Amino acid sequence: MCDREFQNLPDIITIDGPAASGKSTIGNLIANKFGYICLDTGIMYRAVACQALRESLDISDELLISQLAERISIDILPSSNNDGRQFDVIIDGVDLTWDIRSNEVNQNVSEVSVYPRVRNAMTELQRNIAKKGKIVMIGRDIGTVVLPQADLKIYLEASAEVRAQRRYVEDLARGKKVCFGDVLESIKHRDEIDTGRAVAPLKPADDSVIVDSDQMTVYEVVERILDLIAG
Ligand code: CDP
Ligand code: CDP
Repeated sequence: MCDREFQNLPDIITIDGPAASGKSTIGNLIANKFGYICLDTGIMYRAVACQALRESLDISDELLISQLAERISIDILPSSNNDGRQFDVIIDGVDLTWDIRSNEVNQNVSEVSVYPRVRNAMTELQRNIAKKGKIVMIGRDIGTVVLPQADLKIYLEASAEVRAQRRYVEDLARGKKVCFGDVLESIKHRDEIDTGRAVAPLKPADDSVIVDSDQMTVYEVVERILDLIAG
């Protein structure tokens, strides 16, 4: 990252966009640069889906899933393990850091994220975490619903094919057995539900900066955001 003058840093930066558009990789790099915290809110929705599956709850039972979201305890802590994780994700006291990335969770997370009470519970937790400022928050509805007052809002775009290729390479590197076609299908499935839901759908905020990253490396996207921050 080249040197620039950064005056008047935005207190809150939001990064929204579809699956595998680079939100968490880029968000963490920006947050580390400025000593901000970075919250990937996808972890919270994944936690609800993961715990629902562990408890063998019916994902289509809105009441049961909403009650789970309102009582679940989700802790995102500094990594205690050098297995490639960025954080420990502790759900109701159990380390489920990798479980929340399973194919089963991928297949069900967008369904639980549609329920208004689930969203309300997660939004409240997210707003509480953002109260102290100096935060990069990542998700689908952060710039539009959770923190509409944010100083800088980024919306990361990329085609489904490019995103699936990125996620496929990432999964293979982690030793996960995957097939490209399944990854693409799963990403398209989530895109469809995330953009089509009635409450807090995935879309750019009116005052967001849209970065189309199809042809951009992580480094180039970070540079673009740093340019925006430098003003
Ligand atoms: O990392 P990836 O982009 O694959 O997904 P994620 O950010 O971990 O989010 C998983 C799912 O949670 C999304 O597909 C959405 O259904 C849901 N989500 C949401 O509805 N709102 C957010 N603010 C974050 C995630
Ligand atoms: O958080 P989100 O699901 O939006 O994406 P991510 O997990 O940060 O990125 C998915 C994968 O794409 C990671 O392996 C990134 O390194 C990679 N990536 C990339 O190669 N080029 C980009 N412009 C953005 C992400």
